[in-house]
Parts: sequence; C-alpha cells; structure tokens
Amino acid sequence: MWFVHRDLVFSLAIFMLLLGISCSSFLVKTENKIKLAVFFTPKFELEPGSVIEKDYYNIDFPKGHIAIKSFNAEVVDEAGNSIPLHETYLHHWVVNRYYQSKHATQTRHDGQNIPENYGNVMVRNNGICQENTIGQYFGLGSETRGTRTDIPDPFGIEIGNPEEVPEGFEEKWMINIHAIDTRDVEDKLGCSECRCNLYNVTVDEYWRAIRPNYKGGLLCCYDDTHCKLKEGFEGPKRSLYLKYTIKWVDWDDFIVPVKIYIIDVTDTLKLSNDPKGLNSYHDCQVEYQVESCSTNQKDENDCVHVKRTSLPLETGGYVIYGVTHQHLGGIGSTLYGQDGRVICSSIPSYGNGNEAGNEAGYIVGMSTCYPQPGSIKIINGEILTLESNYNNTKEHTGVMGLFYLLVAEELPYQYFRHSTRSSFLMDVNNILLDN
Ligand SMILES: *[C@@H]1O[C@H](CO)[C@@H](O)[C@H](O)[C@H]1NC(C)=O
Ligand SMILES: *[C@@H]1O[C@H](CO)[C@@H](O)[C@H](O)[C@H]1NC(C)=O
Repeated sequence: MWFVHRDLVFSLAIFMLLLGISCSSFLVKTENKIKLAVFFTPKFELEPGSVIEKDYYNIDFPKGHIAIKSFNAEVVDEAGNSIPLHETYLHHWVVNRYYQSKHATQTRHDGQNIPENYGNVMVRNNGICQENTIGQYFGLGSETRGTRTDIPDPFGIEIGNPEEVPEGFEEKWMINIHAIDTRDVEDKLGCSECRCNLYNVTVDEYWRAIRPNYKGGLLCCYDDTHCKLKEGFEGPKRSLYLKYTIKWVDWDDFIVPVKIYIIDVTDTLKLSNDPKGLNSYHDCQVEYQVESCSTNQKDENDCVHVKRTSLPLETGGYVIYGVTHQHLGGIGSTLYGQDGRVICSSIPSYGNGNEAGNEAGYIVGMSTCYPQPGSIKIINGEILTLESNYNNTKEHTGVMGLFYLLVAEELPYQYFRHSTRSSFLMDVNNILLDN
C-alpha cells in the first residue's frame, strides 16, 4: 500500500478534479489493516439563497466484503477548502445501500435514458421506522465535522457480502445531500430552519399544497427553491462537493457485526388487530415543530421543549455506539431503557467562531456514547424511551430528534464460539469458563 503525504495526495486529487478526470477516489494510507479512502460526490452548484437536495446513485465506495469502521463527510469547494456552515448550511447527508438489477442498462431499447433508480431495491438498516423511512446506513447534518463515527474493534458494519446479494443484482450506494447557500440571505438561521415564509413556496416538491399552519421544514426547502436574499444582493454561483472519508477493514471471522437502528422521536407505533393477529406499524414523521415557550415565562432556563416516544426494540443486544441528531436549538437527547436506566445521552456542541468546524450559533458536533462492550444490554422486546430536548426560547421549525444506535447481538467471545473456524478460541473460552 502507498504511504504518501496526505496534502500531496489531496492536491493531486483536486488537480484531477479540475481537469475533470472522473477518478474521484484514492487510497490515502493503510494503518495496520485499516484502510482509508477519501471520495468526492459529483459537483453541485449553489448561489446565494439556493438549495440543493439531490440523490447521487452509484457513488464511489470501497469494494468487496468489508467492515466499515467510520464514515465522515464535509462540504468543500473546488480547491478542497472546508466551507463554513454560515455560507453553506449542510442540512444533512445520508447514505443508503441498494441492490441494482444487472439488467438495468443505461438506455432502454427505445433509446430513452432510464431513470437512475430503475430496478433498484433499497436495503434499509435494521429499523425501526416504516418501509424505507430513515433507512440509511450513515448520515449526519451540520454536526458532521465534530462528531466521532469510529466503531471500536472488533466490531464493524458488514457490507458487500456476496452471499447476501440476490441473484441478478449488485450492491451499490447512493447519497442524498441537502444543502442551503445562506450567503447574503436576510435570515441565515431562518433559511437553515427552512421557514416557509422565507422560501416563497405554496406547494411542496410534489406540487401538493402546503397546509397553512406548516411554518417550516423539508416541505419548504426542497431542491431548487430559494431563500430570501437581503435587498439588492445577488452573488456568484460556485461549485461544491461533499467530501467523504471512509475507513474499513477486510472482512474476517474475528470481526463482530453490529446492527444499525435509528429511533425517531416522532415515531408513534400504531397497533391494529386483523384476522392474522396483532399488527404494528411505525409512523415516523422525521421532523417536528417546537413552539416557543409562553411569553410570560420569566426564566429563560425553563424554556425547554421535551418530546418523548416509547417503542419496543424487537431484537436487543449490546450497545456499542450511540449518537443523536438534532437541529438548531437542540440541547441533547437521551435514550432510556424500560427500567429507566440511561442507555445513551448525546449532547450537541455549538460553535463560537467563524471558521469551518466552529461556526458561531450552529451545531458543530455531537457527543457520542461508547459504552464498554457488554456493559449496556438491551433485552429482546425491551421498550425504549427516547427524549429529545430543545431550547424553545424561540420557536423552531423542521427540527429532528433521531437516535442512531449500533448494537452487537453477541460479544466477541460469544460470537467466536459460534464461528466454525475459531475452534481454538472455543477451547480457550472453555478453559476460562471452567476455572
Ligand atoms: C414569489 O413567487 C411568485 C410566484 O412563484 C413570484 O411571482 C414572486 O416574484 C416571488 N416573490 C419573491 C419575493 O421572490
Ligand atoms: C435558551 O437560549 C437562550 C438564548 O437564546 C438562553 O438565554 C437560555 O439560557 C437557553 N436555555 C436553555 C435551557 O438552554
């Protein structure tokens, strides 16, 4: 493997980008057996006030049967500079896994291009929202630069196992990016919160009328909408990329797979009785509104909006990693077990400067949980309670309260015991257990 100075590799890549060379990925270095690669999405163009919300299919991704160890991303310009949130607000990036039919060729027999998503089957994470809602493997928002995503050894997210891919399909990856250019806008935070009055829209992305009491959120800041600029301002377009950095290891029998669960605080589990028995249906709304605390509230410290949901996790396991996703105004969220114990508490940090990664007033990072593996166990069917808190001194629109959880169903010694090729470990364990 190459070991090249990182800046050199980076400049080289930018040079290739400028030349329009499609090779947008390169291996940077190998440490032990951890591999690291930096990739770039196709470029997107933003001008002051404009919004992109795009899906890029078949993105560059590590190949083979591997375990993902971390996934980080940020917005950069053509020279590779990090772009601060007060210029381009990164609402979110999410990465989805899908199977693409090998028969979905580029053009149809009538010569028309087929849509990029033709013949694709999304492979969602392990739950728990309905259908494909919140089905991503990876994803963060403005907090992306300051949030740890590393998965400790010997755990990893298993992907690319050829035995899992159905006949006639290939495993692929897509990324959805939602970014808002807030240079020269009248109200930067308002544009970032997708307040409808600033976007001058009356219908959503699918031409459905927006209900009058909907003040802000995803329905008002879809692709190609524009947020209100300051009087007389008009700025130049510029080209940006989402740069994403993935660490992984080749799969082997000593890696313990983790499952990905994302709990949404807006999820209301609906139960229904039909002839076949009890049915449950998750109803995740993804976003919600936070009303401001009553104006006669004297103490601003009492202005905390609390939203809770309680849901069962059908299959439990040991918590390996946890992090929340909140928007502006968020002050943290906590996941509780059925007995009230804290499974993970995750708190946003706000920037106080001007530079990328420390933008004043924005969420620039989220604290994460790395419990000692084995110390926090969720039992099968345990009812978890998620609580998401916002500071509602001011109202907030289109906020989120997601909790991303990595769960291992077995601990390493249990897992290896089941693994046929590691019988020597079984012996070691038997000796340890016998004494
Ligand atoms: C708002 O939208 C309407 C119709 O789409 C347009 O005619 C009008 O100029 C827009 N107003 C502003 C302030 O952009
Ligand atoms: C909410 O934010 C206001 C400032 O906007 C601050 O004065 C107040 O202490 C905050 N409250 C909490 C509970 O964080």
